[in-house]
Formats: sequence, structure tokens, C-alpha cells
Amino acid sequence: HFHPFIPAGGVGSRLWPLSRADAPKFLLDLTGSGSSLLRATYDRLAGLSGGRVMVVTGRTHAPAVCRQLPELSPGDLVLEPSPKDSAAAIGLACMLIARQDPDAIVGSFAADHVIEPAEAFQDVVREAVAAAASGRIVTIGIPPSSPATGFGYIRAGTQLGLQGAPHALQVEQFVEKPDEATARAYVHSGNYTWNAGMFVAPASLMLRHLAASEPALHAGLAEIADAWGTPAQDEVVDRVWPGLPKTAIDYAVAEPAAAAGDVAMVPATFTWDDVGDFAAISRLNHVDPHGDPHVTVLGDNSRVLADSSTGIVVSDTGRMIALIGVEDIVVVDTPDALLVTTQEHAQRVKDAVASLKQSG
Ligand code: GDD
Ligand code: MG
Repeated sequence: HFHPFIPAGGVGSRLWPLSRADAPKFLLDLTGSGSSLLRATYDRLAGLSGGRVMVVTGRTHAPAVCRQLPELSPGDLVLEPSPKDSAAAIGLACMLIARQDPDAIVGSFAADHVIEPAEAFQDVVREAVAAAASGRIVTIGIPPSSPATGFGYIRAGTQLGLQGAPHALQVEQFVEKPDEATARAYVHSGNYTWNAGMFVAPASLMLRHLAASEPALHAGLAEIADAWGTPAQDEVVDRVWPGLPKTAIDYAVAEPAAAAGDVAMVPATFTWDDVGDFAAISRLNHVDPHGDPHVTVLGDNSRVLADSSTGIVVSDTGRMIALIGVEDIVVVDTPDALLVTTQEHAQRVKDAVASLKQSG
């Protein structure tokens, strides 16, 4: 039985001031489609699991998540007192699902990616589920288009020839967020794909690797899972959660599992964008029939005047905005903060936010 879930945490600070602690990236509509990235992720998955998808998110996001996903049953909403990174969120989901179905095949899907078309995504996930049934952790590989340092890199080897998964390859190595020189060498070699941030696997195998590499995290999560749904739940969560080690699933499970030969990869046949910064948003919303460079507007475009300019404007205030003769510009106008940068430098917003926070 396939149990997909969505860990939804992290602010996405490279999208500041649009993304905030109380408006994280996964709750934003970044494609102009009218629905948030979380909603779109949920819809892609619901068709694969008879409508049941678990969501693991922060307590503070519960009201917004319930507004976005009114059909989510209370039992499928798992709330964390504070962010502890992806290993805790994914580990807890695996445990709660395994307690109901010890033979469960789980799937963890990042909450904040843009994927098209849904049908191709679903075919790839079906193949990943078939490959996972052979006792493997299955990742999905994306052909790299740049030496990005924010992704995991996968070196795949031979075809596995698994039933129902004709494209599944053995993974020889998984490297999370290499430095730039290493990423360059990987992309240059042509032997690596990006990790799409999805893992399909028997819950028991995910948990075996988690227990081996992060025993304290595993033990704490097991104590929480034992108390889940009992009168002791809140007391145990509030006592154990704050002390849990904070680490990413990619370090805790994917890297060591690949080294042990337990990881496979299915190549993606869909387009994938992790919408990392404002340049990505501009790219995704660029629908000019003539292909002319212009200004992409997210928000109310009747209030934006762009003359001899290129770039992106995100207008969240209804205020009049005029651009004249500026190229590659990024303007993000929100009620209490204004960002002006260029698409070329949009990656650096994260560092700027960190120093703004430090200076209070
Ligand atoms: N509930 C919860 N709590 N979810 C979390 C938390 C948390 O504290 N921290 C992260 N998540 C969720 C994110 O919302 C996302 O859905 C997923 O876990 C991955 O976390 P990110 O923080 O977005 O990871 P990343 O983007 O740096 O790297 C991952 O994704 C890349 C692709 O976008 C890795 O898997 C990379 O290997 C991969 O290439
Ligand atoms: Mg991410």
C-alpha cells in the first residue's frame, strides 16, 4: 500500500519579502495559478493514494494549511512544535504510517516545487513505488542545468531490471549540497542528476537507516510515535521534541543508504523547478507569445508601468509601480518591506535576510 506524505516546513528565505515565517514558500501562489505550491503538490499526489495524503508541518501553519486543504482529515495532519528539519518530519511520518501498516511503502514529496505535467509525475511515482517494493529507497533524478550547490547529486549506475520499473537504476553515490567546484565537476562529467527531493521506500527501510545514522533522533521519534493518539501525546511531544537533533534526511538517510547500495533512481520525465529565487518565478511566469524580453508581473499588473525594462515585479500592495529603462530588475513590493535587486543576484536574498535578522 502506497502512503504519500508532504513535509512542509522551511521559510524559503530567498523569496523574501514575499515569503515570511508566517507565509512560507509552500503557502504562496508563485505560478499565478490561484493555488499554493502545497495545494498543487497535494493534488498531484491525491490521485495516487485514493485521496489520502499526510502533511507534516509546524503548529503555527495549521490554520493556513487547513484553509488550503479543507479535505485533509485531522488524522492526516501531523503538527510539529518547532522546525527540526526534514529528518525529524520525514522520520515521524514514516513511524506513524508504519504503525498502521508495517509493510507500507511511503513517499516523501517536497511541498514547494513546480512540476508539469501531473500525469508524467504520477507515472514516474508509480514506477518508483514498483522499484521500492524490491526493498530500495527510490529517488527521482533531474538532469542538471547548472552547477547548483543547493541540491543533492546522484550518480547512477546500471539498470536494475525491476518488475514494473523498467527505468530504475542502481545509485552508486548520493552527495548532498556539494561545494561549487565539486558540483561543477559533477555536471561536467555528465554522470550525475539532481535529487528532486522525493523519496519512495518501504517505511521500515527508511527507519532502519535513520536508526543507524541518527539513533537519538530515531529513539525520540519512536517515543513520540508510541504516545501518538493517546492522552499522553501532547506531554510527550512537548517534552521530547525540543531535544531532537536537527538534520536533513539527505544526510541522515540518503547518503548512508546509497553507500550501502540501498538506493535506486528513476529519471524524471516531467519538468521540475524548485522555484529557488525570483529569477525562477520570472522564468515560470514568462508567457510572452513573441518571446520578447519584458517585465513579468505577479499580482495586479494594471498598476505596473514598465518602459524599456526587463525583469520581474511582484506587486502585493496595489501601489503604482513604474520602471523605466532598467534591465534584469527584481522589485518585490509588500506592505512592510520592499526588495530591489536583479535576477542575476536574486540568489543572494537569503544572505541579505540573514543579516537583516541579525541587525534586528
Ligand atoms: N515539516 C517540516 N519541518 N518540513 C520541513 C522542515 C521542517 O522543519 N524542514 C524542511 N522541510 C521540508 C521542506 O518544506 C521540503 O518539503 C522538504 O522538507 C525538503 O527540505 P528543504 O529545506 O526544502 O531542502 P532543500 O531544498 O535544501 O534540499 C532538498 O531538496 C532538494 C531539491 O529541491 C534535498 O532533498 C536536496 O537533495 C534536493 O536536491
Ligand atoms: Mg527545498
